[in-house]
Amino acid sequence: MLLIRDLAQVASPAGRAAPLRGAALGEVDVVEDAYVVCDGDTIRAVGRMRDLAPVDGDVVEIDGRGLCAIPGLVDCHTHAAFAGDRVEEFSLRAAGTSYEELHARGGGILSTVRATRAAGENGLRDAVERHRDRMLRHGTTTFEAKSGYGLDRDTELASLRAIGNAGGVPTWLGAHAVPPEFADADAYLDFALAEVLPEAAAVAEAADVFLERGAFDATQARRYLEACRAAGLVLRLHGDQFTEQGAITLAVELGARSVDHLEATGEDGVRTLAASDVTAVVLPASALFLGRPMPPARALVDAGAAVALATDFNPGSAFCESLPLCCSLAATQLKLSPAESLAACTVNAAHVVGRPGLGRLAPGFRADVVLLDAPDWRYLAYHLGGDIVRRAIVGGVP
Ligand code: NIG
Ligand code: FE
Repeated sequence: MLLIRDLAQVASPAGRAAPLRGAALGEVDVVEDAYVVCDGDTIRAVGRMRDLAPVDGDVVEIDGRGLCAIPGLVDCHTHAAFAGDRVEEFSLRAAGTSYEELHARGGGILSTVRATRAAGENGLRDAVERHRDRMLRHGTTTFEAKSGYGLDRDTELASLRAIGNAGGVPTWLGAHAVPPEFADADAYLDFALAEVLPEAAAVAEAADVFLERGAFDATQARRYLEACRAAGLVLRLHGDQFTEQGAITLAVELGARSVDHLEATGEDGVRTLAASDVTAVVLPASALFLGRPMPPARALVDAGAAVALATDFNPGSAFCESLPLCCSLAATQLKLSPAESLAACTVNAAHVVGRPGLGRLAPGFRADVVLLDAPDWRYLAYHLGGDIVRRAIVGGVP
């Protein structure tokens, strides 16, 4: 048993439903002067200190004075399986070269593909573990990560294994870019679907595609996703990052779990997503890092869409492991309340990765708890780039 006592506040998305939409996204239960009791890897009770009943058995206690507890954060969109860096390109971009120009010149994603292929299985395993540990320091207790920097059979499968072995939720981003050894996207997809999908489907939980000019078009994305769905994978899309190419209608038609990015989404897209079961995953750190317009998150929430918030952690478009920073950006750039941000990177993100037992501090949920070094849980968004995560408890283990 683990007792976290004398907490300034415990904050958790209200209710039991997932994903949350509309007004429900902004409802957070806050208990002041509170405790959390965990029994093994499960939360047993949450309440006010004055109502705390004696906890029997072997009890480890954590002193929560001056701290706030929130659910462990869930990062539902990262590209943590990469080696090397893109600091050189970052400097070029600072001097004015665009991300799409670098990509068209064979840099961008393909430069990380070269480094990732060269890393080997052990190098990749070390990289994913290092990235996971950094995410954890920012309060991420569950992470999804995509392959997509291998684009050959061995490196894609090694990426998925490294993610799974590090405790992450693996997504096969087999359609991220066309590697140089193939003449075009169709030839690459012939290979990927015949040679990689059968084994990828045994390791990954979802499939993802970069549907964008210069990457894969809607016809190619449909082909890839239909094959992945037939192999039992959940479907996700990188859509509307730079241009609208039909990602939202395709996502709705194929019953995808999410469409992610949405910086270029217009009013029709907002309406279509709001009327669907597809979750909109917004990635404000990526928009900020590339100097792109922010996604229409406020309009999506107001229209009734299910919205989740993630880092997009990767070396090229979002070198950022911090969900608290994304919550700050969500407040200042996307006009989401701290409560909406909290739900978006806990319970709604848990829905995106198919983990309904995560994302709330309530009896029966998994004992993933983040202790914020703050007198009010809203410092999660308020403290811009602050060092606010004091401690994380993962599956009941501090
Ligand atoms: O989500 N847009 C496509 N993929 C990634 C970036 C990958 C990279 O630049 O290495 C993204 O932004
Ligand atoms: Fe991404």
